[in-house]
Amino acid sequence: MATPVPVMDDISIAALTADPYPSFRRMREAASAVWVSDARINLVTRFDDIMTVERDHGRFASTNPGSLMNKVMGHSLMRKDDEAHQVERKAIEPSFRPGVVKNHWTPVFDAIADRLIDAFVESGETDLFGSFAAPMASLCLNEMIGFRNVAWQDLAAWSQALMDGVSNYGTVPETATRAAAASDAIDAAIDAVLDRYRDRPDATILSSMLHAEHAHSIEQIRANIKVIIGGGLNEPRDSILTTVYGLLLNPDQRARVEADPKLYRPAFEEAVRWVSPIGMYPRRVTRDTVLGDTALKEGDQLGICVGAANRDQSRFSDPDAYDVFRDRGQHLGFGAGPHFCAGTWVARQMVGEIAVPKLFDRLPNMQLDDDKPARLSGWVFRGPVSLPVRWEV
Ligand code: HEM
Repeated sequence: MATPVPVMDDISIAALTADPYPSFRRMREAASAVWVSDARINLVTRFDDIMTVERDHGRFASTNPGSLMNKVMGHSLMRKDDEAHQVERKAIEPSFRPGVVKNHWTPVFDAIADRLIDAFVESGETDLFGSFAAPMASLCLNEMIGFRNVAWQDLAAWSQALMDGVSNYGTVPETATRAAAASDAIDAAIDAVLDRYRDRPDATILSSMLHAEHAHSIEQIRANIKVIIGGGLNEPRDSILTTVYGLLLNPDQRARVEADPKLYRPAFEEAVRWVSPIGMYPRRVTRDTVLGDTALKEGDQLGICVGAANRDQSRFSDPDAYDVFRDRGQHLGFGAGPHFCAGTWVARQMVGEIAVPKLFDRLPNMQLDDDKPARLSGWVFRGPVSLPVRWEV
């Protein structure tokens, strides 16, 4: 028998931001969906329920006319379903294909990683957040989009301003103003380069959009570039740091991975399960329905907590542990269904084949800095906000 969604009013956003996993466990044990009063949304935290949602976009839509994301970024592919979504998804795919990633983007990413490491390799200590992971993710995305003359710091600031704007729910005027300014700056950066790709197609995302089978309006190009800036930067940054953190916390696993570099890929994949960079994303209930043991109403907003599902004890044994060698089942860190992350192959290559192996290779005997502990934060997006390390020079 389905019951109404239970209310949890003793879970605060502050507690979720500091460490969401104890609260996620309580929610998983309580019901298929729980209303968290402080977050003002129904959260879905069990692995099987999320699979049900992702398999049925008729009942659980991405399209959401009132969404703040549409207001801040324009109407992107992420908030469309069916044909409208597929056309725009297909348009960007040429830049993301495994062959293009391997042959075109790998040398670009390789050079960026080496250049960044060159700048601090002699120092013996650094905070990998600011010196490596943030610029690596931003410089790589800059190249992929096809911008010219955009500083990585600006791209990173635009990304942050957009993400803050999307989760602002209109309450803080300065946040909305900063998001609008970032949106205008991105439009200008697109306008500055678009013409160069009309006659000279290449592997960049702007070029792919311009030469797509179904012509894109400038509004579609702008909205989808903004989604890619919002969603293609923090996640590689955070997964670089989480993979390094997981390996440094577990010396036995690190030794085995260093001895057999093809294990960096599963080390990355396990990091995305363990601390999922996107912890939660939204869906909308299109009609009165039942999900697992709860009854939902048309128009209910759902927060799909893949960060919780990836620690579901019915799916993963010892789910809170970072274990490169666990029995590998599917995780939900890249989402599922039609909106499955378009950048999965890029992230696997950038993080699992280039950024993390290079750090371990070039920073001999890299260790966590005992005097400056790593700090992690967030639940909608989660990752290390500081990762100080030392090595031998
Ligand atoms: C470890 C790195 C990454 C993680 C964990 C990740 C995670 C995700 C997740 C969970 C979604 C689904 C969101 C939803 O359904 O609402 C998604 C979608 C998406 N991601 Fe990623 N992502 C990563 C890297 C990237 C990169 C590097 C790019 C681009 C350069 C990218 C581009 C996209 C796009 C365009 C979508 C929307 C796909 C669609 O709506 O069809 N992602 N990502």
